[in-house]
Amino acid sequence: MQETVRVDLGPRSYDVVIGSGLLDSAGDLLSPWLAGNRVAIVTDSAVGDLYQDRVTESLKTAGVDCVGIVLNAGEASKSWDSVHKVVEWLLQERIERDDAVVALGGGVVGDLAGFAAAILRRGVRHIQIPTTLLAQVDSSVGGKTGINSRHGKNLVGAFHQPAGVLADTATLATLSRRDFLSGYAEVAKYGLLGSAAFFAWLEANGASLSKGSPQHLMHAVRRSCEMKAELVQRDETEFGDRSLLNLGHTFGHALEAATGFSNRLLHGEAVAIGCGLAFDLSAKIGLCPPEVPARVRRHFRSMGMMSTLADIPGRLPDADGLMELMLQDKKVRQGQIRFVLARGIGQAVVVSDVDPTAVRAVLFTTMDDRQS
Ligand code: GLY
Repeated sequence: MQETVRVDLGPRSYDVVIGSGLLDSAGDLLSPWLAGNRVAIVTDSAVGDLYQDRVTESLKTAGVDCVGIVLNAGEASKSWDSVHKVVEWLLQERIERDDAVVALGGGVVGDLAGFAAAILRRGVRHIQIPTTLLAQVDSSVGGKTGINSRHGKNLVGAFHQPAGVLADTATLATLSRRDFLSGYAEVAKYGLLGSAAFFAWLEANGASLSKGSPQHLMHAVRRSCEMKAELVQRDETEFGDRSLLNLGHTFGHALEAATGFSNRLLHGEAVAIGCGLAFDLSAKIGLCPPEVPARVRRHFRSMGMMSTLADIPGRLPDADGLMELMLQDKKVRQGQIRFVLARGIGQAVVVSDVDPTAVRAVLFTTMDDRQS
């Protein structure tokens, strides 16, 4: 069983093909997305051992020539050093504009390989084969590629849409529960930002989804990709509605920075807590009814996820310190933080004139919870 979500961007349109067990058909599924018959697979040491041979075999059976490079697993690979290494390797392998770079892995591999493809020979096609929930529902779709700089995360990059995305939901079975739930925060985020019906479906089916129900996983990945495609179609380069995808991320990035972008707090964990805080702030300024933030947190808690600042292990900066970190966010314009807030579940809006006193009050209240 497989389903397709179309990302309609005129000449840059492509399909996201979703299903369980698709890696063994990678050759047939990827062939229509290729102009030539050579691909360069970029993967990492964690994913390569699990899936590289299967993908390579399937491509070879379909008559496609493959070369591969394996990077160290982990965020440190999203660096200038890795781009240098990958681009020089692609040139050495004579990967040309009719060939394709295939990113096989999670968000780090996808962002890095996509960026290498964007700058190689002024742009060669790339294909995403995301193997984490976070990559399947977010980073592989929409064309954001890039690396980190010593000045911050994702500060160097390019928009470079893939020629296709192949999401095999069976790969999610090998994720640790913590990584799975970190990706799940982005799934829940789609319901919170744009669909009360999808959020209610997650409330009813989240438990079975997290136990690996193939039908529920398929539905959650497809619905997330549909919602992402819709926003990317409206605003490909994030001058408007695409920024709604950042619900929970302004608070979340500050928390990630406060915890040193370490294993203490994964990206999705920060997003889940950040979504709770965004709803707190929405209620505080009278944008959404006061009972909604508790419903948001109840769902994350019922999934066994972190939902408040009190759940973060170890010391955190105080509310003023967190405010400082938020002011360094990419979304700050002329000193004003642009928050994605909500009028209710599924009704996110961008608000650029939030009174800093309200933000501080929300953080102080939740910091108090942490101390009590
Ligand atoms: N991950 C947010 C975006 O793609 O815009």
